Amino acid sequence: MSEDYSVELLNAIEAEKELLRLDKILNQANSDYYIKDAPILSDSEYDDLKKRNLDIELRFPTLKLENSVSNKVGAKPSDTFKKIKHSVRMLSLANAFDEQDVKDFDIRVKKFLGNEGKVISYVAEPKIDGLSLSLRYINGELVQATTRGDGEVGENVTANAKTISDIPKNISNAPEILEIRGEVYMSLVDFNKLNAKQEKKNAKIFANPRNAAAGSLRQLNCKITESRPLKFYAYAWGEVSSPIANKQFDAIKKLEEFGFSTNNMTKRCSGHEELISHYKYISNKRADLDYDIDGVVYKVDDLSFQDRLGFRSTTPRWAIAHKFPAEVGQTWLEAIEIQVGRTGALSPVARLKPVNVGGVVVSNATLHNEDYIKGVDSKGELLRNGIDIREGDWVFVYRAGDVIPKISDVDISKRSSKSKPYLFPSFCPECNNRSERIKGDSVARCTGGMTCPAQAVQGLAHFVSRGAFDIDGLGNKQIEQFYELGWVKEPSDIFKLKLRYEKGLKRLENRDGWGQRSANNLFNAIEEKRKIPLNRFLYALGIRHLGETSAALLAKRYKSFETLKQSMDEAYSFSGDSWDELLSIDGVGDILARAIVEAFENSSQRKIIDKLADELDIESELEVLSTGSAIEGMIVVFTGSLEIMSRSEAKISAERLGAKVSGSVSKKTNFVIAGPGSGSKSKKALELGVKVLTETEWLDLINLSNEFNAN
Ligand code: IVH
Repeated sequence: MSEDYSVELLNAIEAEKELLRLDKILNQANSDYYIKDAPILSDSEYDDLKKRNLDIELRFPTLKLENSVSNKVGAKPSDTFKKIKHSVRMLSLANAFDEQDVKDFDIRVKKFLGNEGKVISYVAEPKIDGLSLSLRYINGELVQATTRGDGEVGENVTANAKTISDIPKNISNAPEILEIRGEVYMSLVDFNKLNAKQEKKNAKIFANPRNAAAGSLRQLNCKITESRPLKFYAYAWGEVSSPIANKQFDAIKKLEEFGFSTNNMTKRCSGHEELISHYKYISNKRADLDYDIDGVVYKVDDLSFQDRLGFRSTTPRWAIAHKFPAEVGQTWLEAIEIQVGRTGALSPVARLKPVNVGGVVVSNATLHNEDYIKGVDSKGELLRNGIDIREGDWVFVYRAGDVIPKISDVDISKRSSKSKPYLFPSFCPECNNRSERIKGDSVARCTGGMTCPAQAVQGLAHFVSRGAFDIDGLGNKQIEQFYELGWVKEPSDIFKLKLRYEKGLKRLENRDGWGQRSANNLFNAIEEKRKIPLNRFLYALGIRHLGETSAALLAKRYKSFETLKQSMDEAYSFSGDSWDELLSIDGVGDILARAIVEAFENSSQRKIIDKLADELDIESELEVLSTGSAIEGMIVVFTGSLEIMSRSEAKISAERLGAKVSGSVSKKTNFVIAGPGSGSKSKKALELGVKVLTETEWLDLINLSNEFNAN
């Protein structure tokens, strides 16, 4: 079994085997590290295995070994790197998998900028398969090197980075503050040499150059890093005290002037056709390159456009990674199993005879849904020429990036004459309640709701998870335990635990690690979370389609739980002002809006929400800090076709200045910005005496007219 696929997909038998395997490796690693002082695993590999072991234990608490390595203390290697908060976040990139995705990206960019008729200039460059690093120079001197970490906070690896010869220690003519970002990687020749050396020493063999680069950079002893042949390509920047260029391409040239290596296949391209032809050029060169690449990155060239396009929650709107096609393997499909998710979705999973796909051993793959197994896609069109997938089939498995492996095809010539079509269960395998597929939905769902243990436990686990209530000491394992005891059936029960079960907890003492101290710690941690910000509360409810970002948008709009609840009640018929207001929030579409209103209107769900709210002090969203703009706090409506800005950019820029953008005109509206073709909304504004502005008047008001005249 490999560590590269998700713990979520393990069944109990696999989990037990995997725990034994990890126990052996981790014990050996502990002894190598602490006793022999001769580690064979890199710190990050050790951390990853330890985390995987813990994740499996949390999922299958009864399988935890008596002497588990999780209970052993010892300096955690990763803690020895100091954490550094990035001054500008290190983001990831959205992916494009085919030419259509690239065209769509180009269309999105043009639409956002309102440049539909024009050709946009981009920069295309290889996506290097290494690990990203941010280098901070103050007055030209390298003072800090930080890994990406989770994008917000990374690890201080300054001493190690200084040993890499591609990284200048001093730069002349640099701005006072200059952060250069790029990829640390290892060439294929160096990777093979390193592995040969490791083999001789009987030391750890690295699976691929990326792991070798990561393991080499994250060494506690910088002498080891120094002995490893690491390289660095610069391709981006973080904080800079003064701009280094106006165009992406010129900025890359500037990085070269500062003394960095940049990739020689970096090219300025006009429009999506040139991007795709450069992608083909790089794909053809790929096999001859002395380093691994896994795609081509496209970035909007004009940096003022990049600024206007800005970011989604974790990826920029101005860049995309066009990935190379996935790696494929072939194997037997041994069984199809059904997993039940938090929202009751029945997800079929393929259990495979383990097979190596591009360096990773795969033994599970997603089968998506009932139709996918039958050979039909979401639009009713045939997949795999309509060939279904059956237990016992010979299948083609592929992996694209880090995502869960998928099955692309079946070799029907190898199908046994005895095989039978897979019968998708009409009952939930966890609770035996009927499963139901609503017309138009590709997913079958268990109808058991909170009576289905799988849904209830996963819903509760979501409730206490990191972005939600994040209660210390209350993880999946404890949730399962309390659920089985019947103590916690719904979220509000968590807040009654202390009152009702203080005595009962004695029953748990000496079992599963509970004692008076740990119980008190848990109660204190729960008490701490009685006061909860509105956005976390909303996210914790586990409403379908409502993620952390949209929960934050709702909190920002409605400010208090009372206002939000009242608005949802008013929107019960999916029409009227409150419904329009909900839909007018940028980032809230029809499907999400319906799910939220339904969650508040469904009587059993509402009971759960109200009982929970009674236990809590839900904090109202604070008014945003003053932006000092003329439109702060105002409600504005855009109507008709805008000619200078696109509708999305207009909305986002108004919100950045503290205004609320609404989809409908009411007495509360301050301005209606009307472009050509505006009809009923301008009329309504006139009737209500609401001020109507042209787009230019609006840009004058918010002081953006100069910026647009310049372009
Ligand atoms: S640009 C805001 N350019 O890919 C965007 N990233 O999936 C910053 N990567 O974390 C990244 N080659 O580690 C960029 N030419 C390139 C890249 C590149 C490799 C990596 C980088 C990043 C990841 C995003």
